Amino acid sequence: MTAKPTVLRDLPADLQQERLPQHVAVIMDGNGRWAQQRGLPRLIGHRRGVDTLKELLRCCRDWGIRALTAYAFSTENWGRPLEEVEFLMTLFERVLRQELREMVAEGVRIQFVGNLQALPHSLQAEIERSMEETRNNPGIQFTVATNYGGRQEIVQACRAIAIQVQQGLLQPQDIDETVFAQHLYTAGTCDPDLLIRTSGEMRISNFLLWQMAYAELYITDALWPDFDRSEFHQALCAFQSRSRRFGKV
Ligand code: FPP
Repeated sequence: MTAKPTVLRDLPADLQQERLPQHVAVIMDGNGRWAQQRGLPRLIGHRRGVDTLKELLRCCRDWGIRALTAYAFSTENWGRPLEEVEFLMTLFERVLRQELREMVAEGVRIQFVGNLQALPHSLQAEIERSMEETRNNPGIQFTVATNYGGRQEIVQACRAIAIQVQQGLLQPQDIDETVFAQHLYTAGTCDPDLLIRTSGEMRISNFLLWQMAYAELYITDALWPDFDRSEFHQALCAFQSRSRRFGKV
């Protein structure tokens, strides 16, 4: 992460530290449109999107948010033009290789969730290395959903549980929400409190379907490359203005 001047380095005065979300999830939408609006190839939008994500990660760390999860590539994104898919795979790999040392230094703990076996082998190797080298880091947890689909995650959890039942290791009556969550990719991570989606789309798009049960949703018209600290500040203000009742009165 290259240092660049940042505004709002400290938590803005109108936000209460104790009421910040512990875990923020983002659907980074609008990279292609951002580029097209400028007469640039879509791929440039993805490249700018990486800068935005790096800055958001740093902002979360500066402001004391414990976890950030980003939806980088969905199971449906394989349907994009081959050139774009290949560009994204190469981009993920390059970013990991280039940023790892700095992430280690900044105490970031990296985790990847999704069906990782289907990714290119060289990317899988970088993913494994980044998770291994940051495993014991004490700082913010940064989760990247790659080849991720919420339904697929739930199906694989069901399959894993069924195998345990078949082997007599688990009784059907012992399957509860806690047991189920332990079989998801996100086992051990608290659920997101806040989901931010950029570019005005009002959809969850198969992202963290189980984990998002009580997340507050924040949709902004800003395109992902334009989502800066001041946009994030607005999202957090909206979050703090909500009354979270978790189904109670
Ligand atoms: C959606 O915008 C964006 C993506 C599918 C890719 C997001 C990936 C990154 C920002 C890179 C992250 C990198 C790492 C290493 C985690 P879109 O293409 O759907 O935009 P559009 O709706 O305007 O077409």
